[in-house]
Amino acid sequence: MSTDVMISAEGLSKQFGPVRALDKVTFEVNRGEVVGFLGPNGAGKSTTMRILTCYISPTAGTAKVHGYDIFDDTLEVRRRLGYLPQRAPLYPDMSVHEYLRFTAEIRGVDESRFRKRLDDVVDICGLAQTLGLGIGTLSHGYRQRVGLGQALIHDPEILILDEPTSDLDPNEKAEVLRYIKEIGKDRTVLLSTHNLAEVEEACARAIIVSKGRVVADGPIDQIRSKTGRVRYVVTIDERDAEAGKKPPSATEIQDALSAVERASAVRELPTDESVHKFELAGPEDADLRASLFRLAVAKGWTLLELRRESQSLDAVFRDLTRDDQMASRGLTSQEEEEDEQEDEDEEDEDQDDEEEEDAVAKKSDEPGSTPSGRED
Ligand SMILES: Nc1ncnc2c1ncn2[C@@H]1O[C@H](COP(=O)(O)OP(=O)(O)O)[C@@H](O)[C@H]1O
Ligand SMILES: [Mg+2]
Repeated sequence: MSTDVMISAEGLSKQFGPVRALDKVTFEVNRGEVVGFLGPNGAGKSTTMRILTCYISPTAGTAKVHGYDIFDDTLEVRRRLGYLPQRAPLYPDMSVHEYLRFTAEIRGVDESRFRKRLDDVVDICGLAQTLGLGIGTLSHGYRQRVGLGQALIHDPEILILDEPTSDLDPNEKAEVLRYIKEIGKDRTVLLSTHNLAEVEEACARAIIVSKGRVVADGPIDQIRSKTGRVRYVVTIDERDAEAGKKPPSATEIQDALSAVERASAVRELPTDESVHKFELAGPEDADLRASLFRLAVAKGWTLLELRRESQSLDAVFRDLTRDDQMASRGLTSQEEEEDEQEDEDEEDEDQDDEEEEDAVAKKSDEPGSTPSGRED
């Protein structure tokens, strides 16, 4: 194995009683990469991370961190890793300084090295103002930064961060991401999240897991093009049309766009301006822009915008993790296929997300339940 492979997971499987949390998960992370580990709730992200950090052992398969085996060299593995678990193990009664000193002691960092490291960590994680404060008094965003500090205190080359930005408000999220990007400049980072915008911002590569399996692994751009579809955005003036013609209604545009050959999934996008904004999908091997332009001309519409771009990562994510979502909605593969046509026409991202979260919340209440959508 090349020494540049910092994390390698080979055929990792994990069974919790009847629940198969991981199913032959295989991937590698190279030196210096910041990799997004993406998947819906329950996909197996935390389980993978807990195996890599030697907190639990896999039922089958193995993994190496910096070349050290998670079974044979657990101490070496742990030494090389900084780990921020999904729920950071903070002690609310300690001050930030006390806590960082405490974690440094556990990590075997001696006093003089601690002082030097503390400066770096305070700098990297923006903790200068909070060193003397009790952790219990800090906002959630600051607590996550303390968690990052804890993961960095022994200067590890590899960081494993389990949903470091979940539950943070948008400002806190942006801050924590900024620190993670800074950290990623000279370290290897595996970052789990179900937030796609974050991955697009902080990572060049993503591994997508669904129901314990890796369903995509590669550069973000490559993953985006995985559905074989492209997206178009069409914006038409709501008030102005060619002289003598009436400006179109949203329904009229919807119908006309849906009738364009090879166009699918037409839907209106929200906007504050006096425009009708629509998105639609088309096959990757075609360019529908000419047809869309001619349609606007024929109808006398004022075309303000026409764009062709890769599918959003969101759409790809939903495509690739559909099994998870089906299971959480209690559907089987066949039912879903029958439903699919209707779904495609009225994809609503926000609603989907909410449904998924609801269902996942339900699912985690009953850990023994096995999703029904897949034959194993
Ligand atoms: N200690 C455990 N006991 C039983 N089931 C578990 C345990 N930990 C995780 N699971 C199950 O394994 C699956 C994967 O969980 P997890 O790795 O936490 O997912 P993620 O981090 O992607 O949300 C879920 O179905 C979860 O309920
Ligand atoms: Mg998790």
